[in-house]
Amino acid sequence: MRNILEYDSVELSPNGRDVIILDQSLLPNQEKFLHLTSAEQVFYAITLLKVRGAPAIGIAGAFGLAMCMNRFRARNLQSFDKEFLRVKRYLYISRPTAVSLMWTLDRMERCYYEALEETKDMAADAAIKQIKERLTAEARAIKLEDVQKCLAISEAGFSLLKPGIGILTYCNAGHLAVSRYGTALGPIYMAQQKGLMPKVYSCETRPMLQGSRLTSYELTKAGVDVTLICDNMASDVMSRGKIDIVFFGCDRIAANGDVANKVGSSMLAILAKHYGIPCYSLGPSNTIDFKTKTGNDIVIEERPAFEVTDQYFDKPVAPKGIKVYNPAFDVTPAELLTGIITEKGIFSPHELSKLNG
Ligand code: MRU
Repeated sequence: MRNILEYDSVELSPNGRDVIILDQSLLPNQEKFLHLTSAEQVFYAITLLKVRGAPAIGIAGAFGLAMCMNRFRARNLQSFDKEFLRVKRYLYISRPTAVSLMWTLDRMERCYYEALEETKDMAADAAIKQIKERLTAEARAIKLEDVQKCLAISEAGFSLLKPGIGILTYCNAGHLAVSRYGTALGPIYMAQQKGLMPKVYSCETRPMLQGSRLTSYELTKAGVDVTLICDNMASDVMSRGKIDIVFFGCDRIAANGDVANKVGSSMLAILAKHYGIPCYSLGPSNTIDFKTKTGNDIVIEERPAFEVTDQYFDKPVAPKGIKVYNPAFDVTPAELLTGIITEKGIFSPHELSKLNG
């Protein structure tokens, strides 16, 4: 079996003209790579969770924008400008909750305006060529920086672990969800490599089963001792003393330390508090959105009923036409978290202002 750390879940081809993703919607049954060559293909790959997980979505957005501009045959700078803004705005709304998508696309826009300024005295053809190169380099830099951030998050989280530790995790905040290593799963990989032999419990994470399909898949491939549980078994394993620490990711952290992550994360934090188990959210510092004051201000994505009633089942598991509520994320109030772990270290959710600026 190949180790999952051998592949990247999202890549830009060497010529910058294809975004290559491992189609996560098919895992664990099929390992299929897709070559995305248009804004629409990138948009739908994000919307349909073929590429998912906050940092990976952000990287896919940046690569998607660079790819589209590399393929665009501009008549002049005006048409290049119009297309850049069209694609940026289009990808911006592919998913609403994870702030890394907006963060990377805004960063690409800043790079674009800097490149425009740098090339203002050049002939249009030469300027467009240079702007394309700058955008491609910026998108690649975003991914490389994410690798470094994930490594630093892994080290910070690892500092909390001891041999044989029982860890409960949720959804997938691993290698597949980022550039490499993962956020919540990064310390687990490090613990495994350093011989701590962690015992991981992965909630299956209804309805899209990222815990069952993705987390248990990637941890198994890395040789980690992982046990899959249904989401409603979390209290049972905690009450039996099997869990020493809870690690989950984050999609957007408000300025007051409230954390939006995969729906169900707040349930784990409430349980952890009840059983006196430390509970951490792990993610890059660019997940903190200082413009969003509290968790109540975070837009929560609602997804189609089909995911609850049909997806991943042979036959529907609910009566046809049933009313379904399917929010993709929930907000864990800051006071339920022991800490937030970023590449800058471990912080109390109430002291995030130290990371502003
Ligand atoms: O809907 P998804 O699968 O994109 O949701 C992902 C999560 O909630 C992850 O926990 C989060 O993005 C952190 S990924 C490092």
